[in-house]
Amino acid sequence: MSEHNNGNGTLRSEEWFGPKDLEGFLHRAGLKSQGFSESEFQGKPVIGIANSWSELTHCNAHLRELAQHVKRGVAAAGGFPLEFPTISLGEFFISPTSMLLRNLMSMDVEEMIRAAPLDGVVLLSGCDKTTPAMMMGAVSADVPAIVVTGGPQLKGNWRGQDLGSCTDCRRYWVELRAGRITQDEYDSMEEAIYRSPGHCMVMGTASSMGGIAETIGLSLPGGGTIPGADSRRKTHSEEAGRAIVDLVNKGIKPSDVVTPESIDNAIRFLLAVGGSTNAIIHLTAIAGRAGIELPLSHFDELSRTTPMILNLKPSGEYLMEDLYYAGGVEAILSRISPLLNLDEMTVTGKTLGENIADATVHNDRVIRTIENPLFKEGGIVALSGSLAPDGAVIKHTAASPELLTHTGRAVVFEDYEDLHARIDSDDLDVTINDVLVLKNTGPIGGPGMPESGMLPLPKKLLQQGHRDMVRISDARMSGTAFGTVVLHVTPESAIGGPLGLVENGDMILLDTPNRRLDLLVDDAELERRRAVWKAPAAKYNRGYGQMYSQHVLQADGGCDFDFLRGKTPVKLRV
Ligand code: FES
Repeated sequence: MSEHNNGNGTLRSEEWFGPKDLEGFLHRAGLKSQGFSESEFQGKPVIGIANSWSELTHCNAHLRELAQHVKRGVAAAGGFPLEFPTISLGEFFISPTSMLLRNLMSMDVEEMIRAAPLDGVVLLSGCDKTTPAMMMGAVSADVPAIVVTGGPQLKGNWRGQDLGSCTDCRRYWVELRAGRITQDEYDSMEEAIYRSPGHCMVMGTASSMGGIAETIGLSLPGGGTIPGADSRRKTHSEEAGRAIVDLVNKGIKPSDVVTPESIDNAIRFLLAVGGSTNAIIHLTAIAGRAGIELPLSHFDELSRTTPMILNLKPSGEYLMEDLYYAGGVEAILSRISPLLNLDEMTVTGKTLGENIADATVHNDRVIRTIENPLFKEGGIVALSGSLAPDGAVIKHTAASPELLTHTGRAVVFEDYEDLHARIDSDDLDVTINDVLVLKNTGPIGGPGMPESGMLPLPKKLLQQGHRDMVRISDARMSGTAFGTVVLHVTPESAIGGPLGLVENGDMILLDTPNRRLDLLVDDAELERRRAVWKAPAAKYNRGYGQMYSQHVLQADGGCDFDFLRGKTPVKLRV
């Protein structure tokens, strides 16, 4: 079949299950062979449940259970649910980095929605890459869709103190390397920090993307913050099952929801919560799928007028469980509502303004007011300059204020292996005033732009009591990480960006207030270096990796594939 629309106003799935011919026979027989009677599916909206459950993705390991609650809601509303698996990308186990496969997962989601007899889809996600990949695929397919994440984990607790994953794993790893805690103490945190279903419970990438899904209008209210272990996550899943049937009946598609205005709302949310730098890349890719250009400079424009009001780790003190009890994403949005486009349609069938009309903040320490923010500006700012002609980012709210304007001598590592081999050597020529530079960790050089951007401090500096210094790379950084870390330097070093020309001893200027990142080397010297620069050897000569390397865009294009931008129209009803 080419066009899954029979042209008389019936459901898309009717094209499969309606015709009294051989194809219709086979489609109906395929369901009957699973024990579904014809009355259970015939004439009803068919709702796909795209499930990224996997035991290789611990954050999504409870999604099979949530799928049962979605099914209950779909059936109660008069729909017919069909669950199917997608690729699942977990941050802990996927090598070299889950980001290498995000676009592959988005293609899986898009093509399954398009190829299958689905009138609508509920997207079950959670871990960092799974939510953006689901959103990218659904926007491209443009069939009615609702995102249901598995929600955040409960707070970790170790010896009476709250622990946030993985901000505090990183913080204590530094203390272990500095000799301030023992290996046994560090080991004992393993079961204390990850103690419940769900994704990392600081304002990292998964939490940022869950909140963005809700703000942009692709999740029901509550979707961003209800903990994975809370019974209300199950109720929320059931409500999503009911809501998707309603969306199909109303014909509300992702293209009605994802607009330049709703993207701006999502950016405002990200900035107001001090969210993950990774979300910039994912939002740019999602916007690109909807045909919306989103230059890095636009994030910076909005950052200057968006106060950061959320007091969550890694930039603040609290955790996602606290945010849920304080009122959740809706409460944050109500606080920044003067900055939002409130008329945007959402998957409730109502506008964002209607969704948050009754939202209340229950804890002003967690969600501050616009008048009393944690920071006057948004949590992330964009930089540019001779070291990053197409941009770079810094999460200045998680940096050391005294380092935000800094000039230092470059200490260069050619790639991650070089860093690993030399960072702790006694003869490394480095002081706390230097700038650590890591090359070849971008989208192509990484490959996959790994989260290597939070370079470890040299052990000898840690042992002197230091905990932060300026670090610069073309890599990403986990949304749970922190420090004075400049990321996403574009163009990346592996394709000849200026980062690839930096040598030990060069002076580098970071001027965050003026949004500058400059390599203080004269043009003639840079030209001399460029003339002898050699690109690193290709990482792949076949398969997905080769396709990835040939088509991946730089960070300012969301690291999407060039051929995936825009969407293929799918008719629903006429
Ligand atoms: Fe899955 Fe952090 S490891 S969200």
